Amino acid sequence: MTELKNDRFLRALAHEPVDVTPVWMMRQAGRYLPEYRASRERAGNFMGLCGNPDMACEVTLQPLERYPLDAAILFSDILTIPDAMGLGLYFEPGEGPKFEKPVRTEADIMALDVVNPEADLPYVLDAVKTIRRELGGRVPLIGFSGSPWTLATYMIEGGSSRDFRRAKQMMYDRPELMHHLLDTLAQSVIRYLNGQILAGAQAVQIFDTWGGALSHNAYREFSLRYLEQIVKGLIRQHDGRKVPVILFTKGGGQWLEAMADTGADALGLDWTTDIGRARARVGDRVALQGNMDPTILYASPERIREEVGQILASYGKGSGHVFNLGHGITPEVDPEHAGAFIRAVHELSAEYHVGTGFTACLERASPSRPGRDLN
Ligand code: CP3
Repeated sequence: MTELKNDRFLRALAHEPVDVTPVWMMRQAGRYLPEYRASRERAGNFMGLCGNPDMACEVTLQPLERYPLDAAILFSDILTIPDAMGLGLYFEPGEGPKFEKPVRTEADIMALDVVNPEADLPYVLDAVKTIRRELGGRVPLIGFSGSPWTLATYMIEGGSSRDFRRAKQMMYDRPELMHHLLDTLAQSVIRYLNGQILAGAQAVQIFDTWGGALSHNAYREFSLRYLEQIVKGLIRQHDGRKVPVILFTKGGGQWLEAMADTGADALGLDWTTDIGRARARVGDRVALQGNMDPTILYASPERIREEVGQILASYGKGSGHVFNLGHGITPEVDPEHAGAFIRAVHELSAEYHVGTGFTACLERASPSRPGRDLN
């Protein structure tokens, strides 16, 4: 088993006692950081960063050099799977991701093969190995993938979409075809995440960014069913430790009980759900991750601190909470404000863990520098 200097992220996911609430930010390596923009300039473009394991490692570590974050997340993108399937991913400046060959017909879907990460996505697995080596056990590394439904929307629409017109038309008119596509994607996601776990990812998150755009019934049939298939197919124990799985359906607050039934270890919440009420609904079955509105980072550090305090109070005492934003940090955020956010989580959360049994395991967790993040 690899020794971790700071394992409070994994401990919180397992409902084990912690000294303070762990925190990381979705999209923590990104354009709000000037050092990220400089690296991207050097790489030429975004895919140049993702495709080069040394550069992917460099930008993964940038936010950790600045802030006392409790987890690192692999620098990559959810759209690497469709790219590996031959759709031709590219980024149009200012317009987000696009595919040269979107999937529109039955023939397009039938021609897709399940990806083999060792052969088709070696640069991602190499990035995981490089990052693990360079982290040297500082914090755990999170691997990730998109959900089948979210990947299908990009593949069918050919990029981002406001209304998912084409994807939903296929779902309603040709459900069997949509299921065939989602099944190919679910099998690919299982292989991809297991590849990341074997390469060294210590937790994995599935981004179901567009699950919340589905109707109540369609969510269960076209997104949740495949999330469950993935959870059941993942390697859950590796290198002497449990590998937790986090499910994040943006806009999924009404489905938390059903999401917990998949067997996932934790659920990501966006900011529209009250975290205290979510905790009352799922109990100790799953940990919760979230859920500050990312736009609060535009407000003053005092206002950010106040919001952090409210979310901590809503969750209440004890472990099982990983603090995060309710969605990715945006490019216009002042890095100082992100720092104020992370500091506030560590400082204000200590009181919620007093007397919950942390001291007994402090020595084991970080013998040399207990509580260093409180400085
Ligand atoms: O969290 C992290 O720091 C890890 C890196 C990460 C990226 N994308 C880097 C990235 C992760 C986890 C993702 C996931 C991702 N990618 C999702 C799901 C998460 C979410 O935000 O809901 C989605 C939907 C995508 C697809 C995608 N990739 C879009 C829509 C865009 C354009 C976004 C934009 O703001 O222009 C990307 C590009 C992308 N992925 C960037 C980064 C840092 C920006 C690229 C750049 O211009 O440098």
